Amino acid sequence: MKKILAISGSLRKKSYNTSILRYIKQKFQDQLAIEIYTLEKLPLFNEDFEKPELPAAVIEFKNKFANADALLIAAPEYNHSFTGVLKNAIDWASRKYDQPNSILFAKQIAIFGASPGGWGTKYSQEALLKVLEFLQMLIFHEEKLEIADVYMKIDDQGTIQDEKLKEQIDFFCEKFMKTVSGIR
Ligand code: FNR
Repeated sequence: MKKILAISGSLRKKSYNTSILRYIKQKFQDQLAIEIYTLEKLPLFNEDFEKPELPAAVIEFKNKFANADALLIAAPEYNHSFTGVLKNAIDWASRKYDQPNSILFAKQIAIFGASPGGWGTKYSQEALLKVLEFLQMLIFHEEKLEIADVYMKIDDQGTIQDEKLKEQIDFFCEKFMKTVSGIR
């Protein structure tokens, strides 16, 4: 079974984006080993913290990144970009230390996002893609998942109440799963 590390760019308890990752984990539990990793434990990136030893939370995070077959990122939108906590995580992950490549190099990744607004994280995803391309990740471009008006589709308990949204998410994940498994 392929291992997917699923990262939410939101720290909010009732995050729509994290709720969608929970739905995906449950829905695909027989086909994918999905671990949802939240970013609250990661310190703010600071080059001073890289020596003599990385913080324990960073080592744990980097190991999870390195051991995953692929990454799935839920990217909420703040001020027409992706969130600071997500950028912080990417900055930590991008550091090579004594390796020739970062753990992000040539790693498969899919991104999506949900927003209460009408554009469904279009700008967040655009900004994030630019960073991931620079880091030479293998980006899943076959489908897009930009979820607008999410407050009408997910209830206060984080349960998706919109059947069409479930279908969109399932379709996106099935396609990504095929890509991760090397099937066109
Ligand atoms: C937002 N939000 C937002 N939404 C959007 O579609 N475009 C945007 O540019 C912004 N900008 C923005 C800035 C800041 C500082 C905050 C706090 C929020 C709204 C945002 O999409 C909303 O809070 C989502 O619910 C965040 O995602 P989670 O936490 O529900 O996953």
